Amino acid sequence: MTDLPEEGWLSSDQIARLAAAGARPRPAGAVVEIGSFRGRSAVVLARAAGSVVAIDPHAGSDRGPQEIEADAARGDSDFEVFHANLARFGVADRVRHVRSFSADAHGDVTGPLSLLFVDGAHRFGPAREDLRDWGRRVAPGGVMLVHDSFSSIGVTLALLAECAGSARWRYVGRSRSLAEYERRVDAPTAGERARDVARHLAELPWFARNVAIKVLVVAGRRRWAERLGLDPDARWPY
Ligand SMILES: C[S@@+](CC[C@H](N)C(=O)[O-])C[C@H]1O[C@@H](n2cnc3c(N)ncnc32)[C@H](O)[C@@H]1O
Repeated sequence: MTDLPEEGWLSSDQIARLAAAGARPRPAGAVVEIGSFRGRSAVVLARAAGSVVAIDPHAGSDRGPQEIEADAARGDSDFEVFHANLARFGVADRVRHVRSFSADAHGDVTGPLSLLFVDGAHRFGPAREDLRDWGRRVAPGGVMLVHDSFSSIGVTLALLAECAGSARWRYVGRSRSLAEYERRVDAPTAGERARDVARHLAELPWFARNVAIKVLVVAGRRRWAERLGLDPDARWPY
């Protein structure tokens, strides 16, 4: 994909899903991205949806695989490249950047959301807060997309806690680790909730495979990880 920032972790099938969700008719409301990094997903969403609120503190923390601790120089560099990429790819006037942690940014967005893309901190606590506190702002009929689903342990546990079989969300499906949810319009029946739980449980073998791949990568056993399905060109399963 040459007309997008190269850095980032979205694969081409995930870009297609994000773009389709952004372009589809949805209820009125803001399009919000949590976790922008250097702009790859923000450019996709801005082109598809027309305007995006991009929330990222660019503190260098919770940035990528095994990059949890804050690092101001790393964050400032991401901030500069993010804004340069918005200009370079022609969407600077369609993206409003809120340089805050997502939990502190609720006052920067007014009204309901029509689309929420969650790709910020992947640890269980903040990931769960994003799904719960930002998720409840998505209007009925709106969409939520979550990256690193059934791949990151924290994100997956947060999804199981907040979304599986919930009254609020219907699991639509995924492109690799990009999961898509629809905000329910009507209250689900007990049968619909049970089916939604079953659909989440059916993803657990794929989750186990991703965790095993990560363990092997960290242990320096890339060849074995590739035998389990890790893309030889990828550093990590997405
Ligand atoms: C995996 S990257 C996002 C990748 C981006 N969506 C893309 O496609 O290129 C995670 C980003 O989340 C940001 N982040 C970390 N903690 C956050 C938080 N609490 N709220 C919002 N963003 C956060 C990091 O600064 C980092 O840029």
